[in-house]
Amino acid sequence: MEPAGRRGRRGAMLPLLGALLLALVAGATAWPHPHHGAVGHGAAGLAAAGAAFGGGGERRYRDLALQRMESVRSSFAARRDLATASSSTSRVFHVTDYGADPTGATDATDAINKAIADAFRPPTNATMTGGIPDLGGAEVHLDGGTYLIKAPLTLPASGGGNFRITSGSLRASADFPTDRYLIELSASSSSRSYDYEYATLRDLMLDCSYRGGGVNVVNSLRVGIDNVYVAHFATDGVAVSGGHETAIRNSFLGQHMTAGSDPGERGFTGTGIRLDGNDNSVTDVVVFSADTGIMVTRPANSISGVHCYNKAAGFGGTGIHLKVPGLTQTWISKCYMDYTSIVAEDPVLLHVSGSFFLGDANVVLKAVNGVARGVQVVGNIFSGRDKGVDIVALDGKFGTVEQVYVQQNSATGMTVKSTAARGAAEGNGSLWTVDFGEALLFPDRIGHVQYSLVAGDGFPGHTLRNVSGNKVVVATDKAVSATVHVLVDQNAN
Ligand SMILES: *[C@@H]1O[C@H](CO)[C@@H](O)[C@H](O)[C@H]1NC(C)=O
Ligand SMILES: *[C@@H]1O[C@H](CO)[C@@H](O)[C@H](O)[C@H]1NC(C)=O
Ligand SMILES: *[C@@H]1O[C@H](CO)[C@@H](O)[C@H](O)[C@H]1NC(C)=O
Repeated sequence: MEPAGRRGRRGAMLPLLGALLLALVAGATAWPHPHHGAVGHGAAGLAAAGAAFGGGGERRYRDLALQRMESVRSSFAARRDLATASSSTSRVFHVTDYGADPTGATDATDAINKAIADAFRPPTNATMTGGIPDLGGAEVHLDGGTYLIKAPLTLPASGGGNFRITSGSLRASADFPTDRYLIELSASSSSRSYDYEYATLRDLMLDCSYRGGGVNVVNSLRVGIDNVYVAHFATDGVAVSGGHETAIRNSFLGQHMTAGSDPGERGFTGTGIRLDGNDNSVTDVVVFSADTGIMVTRPANSISGVHCYNKAAGFGGTGIHLKVPGLTQTWISKCYMDYTSIVAEDPVLLHVSGSFFLGDANVVLKAVNGVARGVQVVGNIFSGRDKGVDIVALDGKFGTVEQVYVQQNSATGMTVKSTAARGAAEGNGSLWTVDFGEALLFPDRIGHVQYSLVAGDGFPGHTLRNVSGNKVVVATDKAVSATVHVLVDQNAN
């Protein structure tokens, strides 16, 4: 159902259209607004029209047509003036009003920076967290254009909150600095803890032209990066450092525009998203080319609904790299790791669940000091190519393993590894050995064993003889025909 507000607006358009048609047909060009000179101008137009008909002749007729056009144009200009005048209180800053070239042919850096500077004049004395000026919802509007920029769009160091940049494309020029980003939320000279708050970058296409990166968010609070497409970055698509609560959502990042099976995939470099801060979230994002999809170097970030096919693990790429040894505090859910792996260095508090790993993609626990504590890799599905790749693999030796649960994952074409397993041995004898070498994740580590011996009519004495090398040996005091069922857990508790 159409909302009433919308219908109302369309209704208001009709008289406007009618007036315009009337102006065209009659040559009457007076715009019905008392405050503008267009009324006088229109009257002159009418007089001229009378003269033209009186005299006849093709040339005069053309003059008349030209005059009509001119008057219509001036009435539009009048309207535009009115619009601009009435919008002096509006907080939408159109970059084309500042002379930015929306065709991308000429440099627009200064013009857009001027629009940003105006947007950063606070309309009131209201402030946000820590005294950040409240910009009242100011919007820098890119008017659906493509703009060439030769230097980063930098936000004023005075800081600001409650603003957005939206609706257009930015393209780095061939001489754009390679160590910068197209949009930088960064105020290096500031003494505040946070310089920007509730800043939204929305509906933007950022083409870095293989120079520098897309967006850099420094010491900012509650930044939203929403429906943004970042391409051709040389460094990072989006980088976040310091600050809190940057939400990167519904976005697409790729160094090269490709939909997979790219012949240049081995050569992809750069990082889709770099999180060098806490408390950020990445949701519903695709990283379709880059050496590393998401690089995380600080704790307390969440990643969900991300599809990484940035560069296959077989070509040396990584989907999500958690480089936060000893204090990981990262939760990953509902992701699609498409030939790309999750690498976690000394994971301490890591959760990976509900995700799909395709093409031998897996989870790699990488030892730095050899600590894995509070890790859950549970309820994921894996699809491999029968090459014997483990769904969870270790890179290095772990001396400390506590509360590590790799369980209830399912796989085809890969080797399921787990921190808990069950098995059985049957036969006629006095020693029963169950080898968990294939099933368990950590070598030579069984923290807990439970077994039961089923010996039919027999009633042998029996004991757990040996637990080492991930093998469990049960012995009876005499040869019997029996089955021994064993449950093991790599956690001791
Ligand atoms: C804003 O603050 C300035 C300086 O303290 C003051 O002069 C001005 O009246 C204030 N404006 C409003 C709208 O409160
Ligand atoms: C098990 O082996 C013992 C000797 O090793 C033999 O005496 C016994 O009959 C066997 N039991 C069965 C059920 O085969
Ligand atoms: C358990 O088995 C291992 C490997 O065979 C062996 O080295 C170890 O001595 C055994 N331990 C006991 C208590 O029998």
